[in-house]
Amino acid sequence: MTGHRPSLAVVGATGAIGGVMLRILSQHADVWGEVRLVASPRSAGRKLVVRGEESEVLALAEDVFDGIDVALFLVPDEVSARWAPIAASKGVVVIDDSAAFRLDDDVPLVVPEINPHAARLRPRGIVASPNCTTLSLIVAVGALHAEFGLRELIVSSYQAVSGAGRDGVAALREQLALVAGTELGTQPGDVRRALGDSAEATGSPFAAPVALNVVPWAGTDAGDGWSSEEIAIREECRKVLGLPDLKTTATCVYVPVIATHSMSVHARFENEVAVGKAHEILATAPGVVLFDSPASGDFPTPSDVVGTDPTWVGRVRRSMDDPHALEMFLCGDNLRKGAALNVAQIAESVAAEFPRA
Ligand SMILES: NC(=O)c1ccc[n+]([C@@H]2O[C@H](COP(=O)([O-])OP(=O)(O)OC[C@H]3O[C@@H](n4cnc5c(N)ncnc54)[C@H](OP(=O)(O)O)[C@@H]3O)[C@@H](O)[C@H]2O)c1
Repeated sequence: MTGHRPSLAVVGATGAIGGVMLRILSQHADVWGEVRLVASPRSAGRKLVVRGEESEVLALAEDVFDGIDVALFLVPDEVSARWAPIAASKGVVVIDDSAAFRLDDDVPLVVPEINPHAARLRPRGIVASPNCTTLSLIVAVGALHAEFGLRELIVSSYQAVSGAGRDGVAALREQLALVAGTELGTQPGDVRRALGDSAEATGSPFAAPVALNVVPWAGTDAGDGWSSEEIAIREECRKVLGLPDLKTTATCVYVPVIATHSMSVHARFENEVAVGKAHEILATAPGVVLFDSPASGDFPTPSDVVGTDPTWVGRVRRSMDDPHALEMFLCGDNLRKGAALNVAQIAESVAAEFPRA
């Protein structure tokens, strides 16, 4: 059998994650043959640059998968739900970044630093990549789990607006322009009134103003008062870590940050924990940077971390009332490890399965 460099389709190449993916494909060691760019019919004919060359965007249709080995799906859930099985039925290995298949028993949910082997067994021809909050959290917590035995997670997120895609970024930029230079933010409801209908008119995906504000609701209604993002953290951490009974509580909050999610984490373990040992683990864990000298101002913040690959961890403390628990604060770029980078890492491991020329 003659080998070849696998061909790749990037579906959703024009989106927030798609843009980062094109940069990653241009920066990482090039393992691909043809790279085909795909989006909705709205974008057909647009030209985007990947690996230093202009390439024309094709409209999503069955024949865009002809001759393709691996397809990255960086599109809304409903588009993945419909089209990923079509691509898979043509023998394409699909790496899906949407929520459509993450909790499907026949679809592995993969974080290469934690469960790389899972990507090789894919009964439906689809591999899923977790939600951006799960991803930033799990590389750090998974490393600690291997040493101490994770039992419970309590997470509060401070999520960037790009978690809601291009529309989220557009909404924050527009709202910031409207409040800049005003005295708004001092009276009940003044920001909401000043933005008026503009939030709706610009298609803001947020349930409240996000400029000069925080919004404690991310995703859709998952019942019993929970948001879909909060349930995703719980179910995805359980699946990736192989801990079906892991106690997990999350409260997800949008903050006026463009990219990079932050999280305050309370992690309880089976074994007693020591900060020294936790530092040692985090300092050497793949995909993690320990940045923890708060008295000198060394702690992660989203504006310092944005654009970088790892999860940055700081403020590591042993809980005052529980020798089995650690508190920490972490930041991870939701568009890189939180999405495009994880998908690229999975795709590169799949590419390595193809026989070389
Ligand atoms: N943003 C994050 O932090 C993050 C993190 C993890 C996972 N994800 C997931 O990744 C996916 C993409 O997110 P995003 O933030 O990049 O969204 P986005 O900025 O809104 O981009 C959406 C992309 O999907 C394409 N698309 C929309 N409808 C389509 C259709 N009917 N047929 C073909 N292509 C279609 C769009 O193409 P056009 O330009 O032609 O409309 C665009 O390329 C979503 O499932 C999201 O949940 C996002």
